[in-house]
Amino acid sequence: MKLLLFITASLLAGLAFSAPTSENTIAESLNKDTLTITEEFFPDSLAVYTAEHDIVKILTPLNALNFEDDADEEDDEGSDSDSVTFIVLADVQENGDKVDQGLYMLKAGQATKLLDNGRDAAAANDDTKTAYFAAKDGIYSYNAAENKAVKYGTVTDDLISIAKVNGSDVIYALTADNVLLKVTEEGTKKEVVDKVVNAQEIILDYQNNLYYYTSDKSVYVLVGDEVKKFEGLPANPSYLNIINPPFVIENGVPVIVDNQSYLVYENGTTEKGDIELVVRPTAYSMEATLIQYYGYNKKVYEYNILSIILGEVLTEFKSFLDDMTDSIQSIATRSRSDLVNA
Ligand SMILES: *[C@@H]1O[C@H](CO)[C@@H](O)[C@H](O)[C@H]1NC(C)=O
Ligand SMILES: *[C@@H]1O[C@H](CO)[C@@H](O)[C@H](O)[C@H]1NC(C)=O
Ligand SMILES: *[C@@H]1O[C@H](CO)[C@@H](O)[C@H](O)[C@H]1NC(C)=O
Repeated sequence: MKLLLFITASLLAGLAFSAPTSENTIAESLNKDTLTITEEFFPDSLAVYTAEHDIVKILTPLNALNFEDDADEEDDEGSDSDSVTFIVLADVQENGDKVDQGLYMLKAGQATKLLDNGRDAAAANDDTKTAYFAAKDGIYSYNAAENKAVKYGTVTDDLISIAKVNGSDVIYALTADNVLLKVTEEGTKKEVVDKVVNAQEIILDYQNNLYYYTSDKSVYVLVGDEVKKFEGLPANPSYLNIINPPFVIENGVPVIVDNQSYLVYENGTTEKGDIELVVRPTAYSMEATLIQYYGYNKKVYEYNILSIILGEVLTEFKSFLDDMTDSIQSIATRSRSDLVNA
């Protein structure tokens, strides 16, 4: 519950940051115990990157790309835009099909194209400085020193989604014809996971449970060898998205079903969130929890939760967030090693 509240608060606080024109809207939403996300939650002042195509994925790696060891780097001026994120651009057709427009590394507002046909990115929560990309011709990994994508292993399948298991060399990759591959031995061995059928997209929680949804927009989780369907979600939605969780949620992931947020857990339970989306982001990145990124209208928006709490903006929020101050501070002061050992 506390976590649910936290994720809600961080999302809404993030989305509302420095959007004073929407203060009334937000206060009204709070009174109703439901936050309604509207156009006003995406002010230009929070846009950190503008593309010519839709932003369809954003990943903020929780590894040494973004978390230096404590001694290493205290030199930044708290500039959050220095986070390394990977973004995937595409032109989304009316029928939902995507035309690749490249996978980019985005840092400090500068985007570098890494792959023409990159479709997804994943990273472990460890001390490495890398990430893995699903592309039309297999798996690539990120070489931070050269800011480049390099071919990883021998898989050459046409891939649409990827997830990196933490603490082992296992990578799950989903092919364009919806076959789930388990890739090991540094990318040289692959086997089909035939328990998982018709997956459209895959993500992992922080306990390495694999979540996916099928073409009829049902959501499932693979725990060990067992597949469970989430029965508590609305049937036959017209829109569904599964989201990489904020690191405060260990064994579950957020799901957006039509215009409503939910949390689904490893144990098969479903919880309704209290966010309603009148407008929907096209991509979500809440992994880092206190710095979040969303794609909307071909732009990437950055939300810094601490700025809201420590700053003088939006007093309604501050009181709303008061209850959460302890957990927020404990998260904020965790070092990355606390995080990965959590
Ligand atoms: C992730 O893997 C790293 C390195 O193997 C390990 O130290 C850490 O505890 C793992 N984190 C989680 C959340 O399992
Ligand atoms: C399922 O897991 C969630 C999150 O850990 C927990 O809040 C809930 O009580 C669990 N439900 C059951 C039936 O075990
Ligand atoms: C649901 O979200 C879609 C996409 O943003 C929007 O067009 C629609 O109006 C929303 N519906 C409701 C009931 O909020």
